[in-house]
Amino acid sequence: MLISKKIKLADIIHHDNRLVPIINRFGIQFGFGDRTIEEICVKRKINTNFLLEILNAFHDEEYIPDKNLPNFSFYNIVDYLSRSHKYYNTVKIPDIEKLIDKLIWSDISQKQNKELLKNFFDEYSKKVNKHTNYEENKIYPYMLEIESSLKKKYITEKLEKKILKYPIKEYAKEHSDLDSALIDLKNIIIKYLPPPDNPIVMNKILSEIFRLEKELKDHTRIEEHVLIPKVKEIEKEILKFKKKN
Ligand SMILES: [Fe+2]
Ligand SMILES: [Fe+2]
Repeated sequence: MLISKKIKLADIIHHDNRLVPIINRFGIQFGFGDRTIEEICVKRKINTNFLLEILNAFHDEEYIPDKNLPNFSFYNIVDYLSRSHKYYNTVKIPDIEKLIDKLIWSDISQKQNKELLKNFFDEYSKKVNKHTNYEENKIYPYMLEIESSLKKKYITEKLEKKILKYPIKEYAKEHSDLDSALIDLKNIIIKYLPPPDNPIVMNKILSEIFRLEKELKDHTRIEEHVLIPKVKEIEKEILKFKKKN
């Protein structure tokens, strides 16, 4: 289903409740009655096309955002992506950590299982943290910088050097590392750990990990299919500009 601006937001949520955290990131909370997406966006001064792109990208894995349509600025995208990072680091990951803490193995010989899972998850969360910090401190500011250069129609020598030394296509390689760490984590649970005394908690942990994985994949898709192509185009464009110090 393609989500369009004339559809009621409530209907979208009934259809796909995974979109709730996304609309929250745009500052939309429940209680929106029968208003359509467009009506809500106008009232809250949200860029309708941008919200639609994000909702569709998360709702349908096959959806490739229209390269020509997003005339929204990097500022919108970066703001949205940074909010998502905050959600992963301060809500999702701590939630899973709390669940891991609840696991019980009463057999003394199996006590180390919890530590093993904890350490593994800890490693993973550190990787997510490092990656999101890197994006927020290096990649996103870089995007804002080239966007501003495009608007001003000139390029500084420093920026030119940056583009030539580390073009955006290098950054796209970063993501595969995070994917493989999560696959290992799931396999530890599914294949190797003996069942705990409270298997329901373990099931919950696994389904939360699957959810986090899906969210991160969708997030990465925005970075790779919306941001990177746009950045590549701008890099090419501004390298043609006159230099100014
Ligand atoms: Fe990110
Ligand atoms: Fe990323």
